[in-house]
Amino acid sequence: MLQVSRLATIGEMAAGVAHELNQPLTAIANYAQACDRLLARPAANLEDIHTALREIAAQAVRAGDILRRLRSLARSQPMRRERADINAVIEEILDLLTADARAHRGMLKFEPAPALPPVSIDSVQLQHVIVNLVRNGLEAQADSASETRELCVRTGLCTGGEVEIAICDNGPGLSPQALERLFDPFFSTKPEGTGLGLAISNTVVRAHDGSLVHQPNQPRGACFYIRLPSEPAAA
Ligand SMILES: Nc1ncnc2c1ncn2[C@@H]1O[C@H](COP(=O)(O)OP(=O)(O)OP(=O)(O)O)[C@@H](O)[C@H]1O
Ligand SMILES: [Mg+2]
Repeated sequence: MLQVSRLATIGEMAAGVAHELNQPLTAIANYAQACDRLLARPAANLEDIHTALREIAAQAVRAGDILRRLRSLARSQPMRRERADINAVIEEILDLLTADARAHRGMLKFEPAPALPPVSIDSVQLQHVIVNLVRNGLEAQADSASETRELCVRTGLCTGGEVEIAICDNGPGLSPQALERLFDPFFSTKPEGTGLGLAISNTVVRAHDGSLVHQPNQPRGACFYIRLPSEPAAA
């Protein structure tokens, strides 16, 4: 069933992918034709040809980015769920997250709650989701003052018994437009963004019978909450 639902998601994405790839491919074709015309002139302007070739390369990279994100989604099947301690799953990628925060000139704080019940998850997939959300938070803080550039990953237990992972930043928060289209594939406000990060994260969390929700952070920024059903503790 999980494979079917993942394939259905890829199917839903196919229309969007076709549209999205059509733009760089059309641009590549146009610039290539322009190069052909420019080269046919007796005194070809090398600068113009250079510009067109650079554009072709940039558009090809963009198309490749989109395909790579989709391929990583397809490759991760089948989902393998195992009982896991969510704090240990996060610990495994803590070095990676800390390095990423440093690369974004920010700080990462991890606040694990003690004695959480286990969850049944595909750890690698959940780690991808956490990396995606942390990366978004770090990118959102790029223009913030350096002393406020802090990203917090916190775990906890909800009153309903779900295990929660909160990922909070002090960036500008979500724009009204982003709020409306949050989990739409290909919605991005970043020049280099594929807009697939949140769409894929939402799909993965739902496949785990969990939920991914957003709430504004106080006094500013965004908070994303991953909530997962907990397993009964081992006897
Ligand atoms: N923590 C955040 N703070 C502010 N805006 C955010 C945050 N997370 C996501 N967004 C907004 O939601 C959009 C979609 O995010 P998503 O992760 O799906 O794609 P992306 O980050 O733009 O691209 P990619 O994940 O491929 O790098 C972003 O472009 C941004 O506008
Ligand atoms: Mg992203």
